[in-house]
Amino acid sequence: MQVNEYVLKNPDTLETPVMLVFQDQLEHNIASIIKVTGGPDRVVPHFKTHKSKEVLKQCLAAGIQSYKCATLREAEVLAEGGARQILIAYPMLHPQKLNRLMELMSTHSDIDFRIIFSHKAHVDAVAPLLNKHNKEIVAYIDLDTGMHRTGAQPGTEAIELYLAASRTPRISVVGTHLFDGHTSYQPDVAIRTDSVKQSLDHIHNLWEEVAKQGCPASDNVIGGSWSFHLYKDEPTIRMSPGTFIYWDHMNAMIPELPFKVAGVVLGQVIDRNVDKDTLTVDIGSKAITDDLEMKNRFKVAGNANISLVSQSEEHGVITRSDSDLRLGDFIFALPGHACTTTTKYPEALVIDQAGNVTHSYKHDARDR
Ligand SMILES: Cc1ncc(COP(=O)(O)O)c(C=O)c1O
Repeated sequence: MQVNEYVLKNPDTLETPVMLVFQDQLEHNIASIIKVTGGPDRVVPHFKTHKSKEVLKQCLAAGIQSYKCATLREAEVLAEGGARQILIAYPMLHPQKLNRLMELMSTHSDIDFRIIFSHKAHVDAVAPLLNKHNKEIVAYIDLDTGMHRTGAQPGTEAIELYLAASRTPRISVVGTHLFDGHTSYQPDVAIRTDSVKQSLDHIHNLWEEVAKQGCPASDNVIGGSWSFHLYKDEPTIRMSPGTFIYWDHMNAMIPELPFKVAGVVLGQVIDRNVDKDTLTVDIGSKAITDDLEMKNRFKVAGNANISLVSQSEEHGVITRSDSDLRLGDFIFALPGHACTTTTKYPEALVIDQAGNVTHSYKHDARDR
């Protein structure tokens, strides 16, 4: 079958639903991130999107040495896979998690592990363990400039946290961490640029105030797919998108970025309802993005007018629209969110340019 740029031989030999990664598009995305950011040392990709050692290997081969992650399993897989620097960009308080971090640091003493703090409680939780295990760590102060998920508030709260953490033995604070998820799904680049300017005002203010106290910020890890490139002119900022690697139909709304959707779900039309003029496919909420509103969970490649109207665990009901899809036909579903699609599958099948399944990418860090 072929739809647009996606070619797949013998789809009837693959049991659907199944996740596919189109290798050409993946390679295009890795080459593009280097071009857009200006070099492999300017990017700290988030590992959560693909969670795969084999994909990591390709990023390492492209010269990218530093990675971001959210879970300790992701950190472990990154370490086993050869990452040189690993930033766990998730505030850690639980003693089991912190002990696991200490173990990881002992097992991989040659790797530069880094963490973030958004509250003094995070500093106080890790400091005694660093002492006990005779270790030191590099940290960033997480700043909340509008997403309101994690992060110290700009101004006094962030400055005080930065200074308190910097004065804690065994901790070196090198700069700011910021994920401005509030820029997501805003296609207008002028609006996103404005939001980034506001974040930069807060960041500059923090840098200035802490520098006055003898704690200059030298390295900062900032941004997601909707914003990262808008920070490029700041030389001490390294950019940290994740979704670029597989892209998705929502991120494809970003007009100025060159990435292609590489991660796709193959599904099949399994029923239809003539009165409602709908088709039922085998792509339920357990098979694709389930953290977006219904109409955005997936799009059918080559059929822009089709939309998803309802979903249960193993079924998806789509409008037939003006398509000529029939029972038994296969579809390529373009996920609305690449990251929450990968987690639905233990692995993705890799498809070469001619449409052959060549091997698979295991989602090694799917569990926590
Ligand atoms: C802390 C953090 N950094 C970076 C990213 C990557 O952003 P994106 O998925 O938009 O590429 C995420 C995504 O959720 C994130 O939570």
